[in-house]
Amino acid sequence: MTALIPVDFVATDIDAIKDMEGRLAIFVPPAGTLDATAKRVNRLTRGSIARAVSGEAFEKLEDGAAMVLSYPVNIPAEAVIIVKLARRPTVGEARKAGATLAKQAGTTKVHALCGNLRRAHELAYGMILRAYEYTDQKTAEKTAHEGASFVVNAPDDVKAAFDGLDALAEGVFFTRDLVNMPANVLTTTEFAKQLSDLKDLGLKVEVLEEKDLEKLGMGSLLCVGQGSDSPSKVVVMEWNGGTKGDKPFAFVGKGVVFDTGGISLKPAVGMEDMTMDMGGAGVVAGVMKAIAKRKAKFNVVGLVGLVENMPSGNAVRPGDVVTSMKGDTIEVINTDAEGRLVLADVLWYAQERFEPLGMINLATLTGAIVIGLGHENAGVFSNNDALANAFLKAANVEEEGAWRLPMGKAYDDKLKSRIADMQNVGGRPAGSITAAQFLQRFVKPETPWIHLDIAGVASVKEETGFAPKGATGWGVRALNRLIMDNFEGE
Ligand code: BES
Ligand code: MN
Ligand code: ZN
Repeated sequence: MTALIPVDFVATDIDAIKDMEGRLAIFVPPAGTLDATAKRVNRLTRGSIARAVSGEAFEKLEDGAAMVLSYPVNIPAEAVIIVKLARRPTVGEARKAGATLAKQAGTTKVHALCGNLRRAHELAYGMILRAYEYTDQKTAEKTAHEGASFVVNAPDDVKAAFDGLDALAEGVFFTRDLVNMPANVLTTTEFAKQLSDLKDLGLKVEVLEEKDLEKLGMGSLLCVGQGSDSPSKVVVMEWNGGTKGDKPFAFVGKGVVFDTGGISLKPAVGMEDMTMDMGGAGVVAGVMKAIAKRKAKFNVVGLVGLVENMPSGNAVRPGDVVTSMKGDTIEVINTDAEGRLVLADVLWYAQERFEPLGMINLATLTGAIVIGLGHENAGVFSNNDALANAFLKAANVEEEGAWRLPMGKAYDDKLKSRIADMQNVGGRPAGSITAAQFLQRFVKPETPWIHLDIAGVASVKEETGFAPKGATGWGVRALNRLIMDNFEGE
């Protein structure tokens, strides 16, 4: 897995600044007043900091952004990064400033001279998240990042506040790695293996193979993978950190390791992006990893349906009728609407086996959600206002965009089939909503449930606040917070 850059928290020693190598970072509030450490850097560099922060360039900087003085006079450090930041920043501002540090080119050590700056631990977290880089498929040798030292007045307090954030970052990185991996590397078998390795963290992991899925009657999930040489699998991960016997919260993920569309083949242009069609399963994997690493005091299960959607002589055809585990029959009008076929059976299985007190599924489900919400927000669909609002709040705190969309009978009616209990598509209008309606047919009315359509946010072509181009890890932080703030008590 892509490693986190190393960070540590050390006590302020003003006299050590003159010998520090690598890059120094100082934090200057909009008013331009210098704290004790910044004053020392200023004195050592013969007033260059004071000049920099009194100029127009500093005034025009956004909060959390930086200007860089390269090769400053009279000190060994190769640069001074001047970050514009209030002394008592919000969580968001502190993380953004951390991301700014990560984006300063280079792999040399950063000495972040925080002094009494509040929320230095969030600064470190933001820096770690943004310093991610996926290089597994590059042959050039990678220079390891020397990491960052956060020089603070009360290192023990900051260390304590940072506790657990590294676990979360590892969860996010796990999701990003899985989503970035090409489909010839991350096959269904390799994905199941990666999840089985989570056993080392104390998770119970069980892999259901095709013969098990057949016995369970998962005809809907199985028809999607039947044209592929990679075997379909369902992986069940259990974290029992709460009271024994208490019902768990359930996460369910779409894990289509590659989506060609099947016989309803997708156009060639952009098809390579469908390596990210396991993004929902990737988020479930990352959340389970984070929850296990920080030893959450609650019972949580994660289930993923792993399949590959390929055209072949054995592939499911448009017009075929399959029978789901629930027993309902589905007319497969379009083999490219495969994610819902996978989720139908995994959602049903999750409820039959665990009777979860709440269930959230994630899926790169529809192109329509990208048209509707772009890359800024995931689509949120729910049968339960309390759970939906709790999630939206958690997503808001973590600055992971999420926007609720309506559901209703008129949309559900679009799924009527002439020959079977339902068909798998509802036409072009409101395509994301009819997809959600399809899923809801496999959710028991008593199960509080959210469907997150993450097609627009799982992997993007531009860098975002806390991730470079490619996989974002969207949702890991929000879902972890949902559990932490609403279920773990205290
Ligand atoms: N995996 C796609 C959805 C998708 C599109 C994800 C773009 C990420 C980016 C999904 O399986 C799909 O093909 N959906 C179809 C549904 C249609 C056939 C009803 C779509 O959105 O076109
Ligand atoms: Mn598809
Ligand atoms: Zn798909």
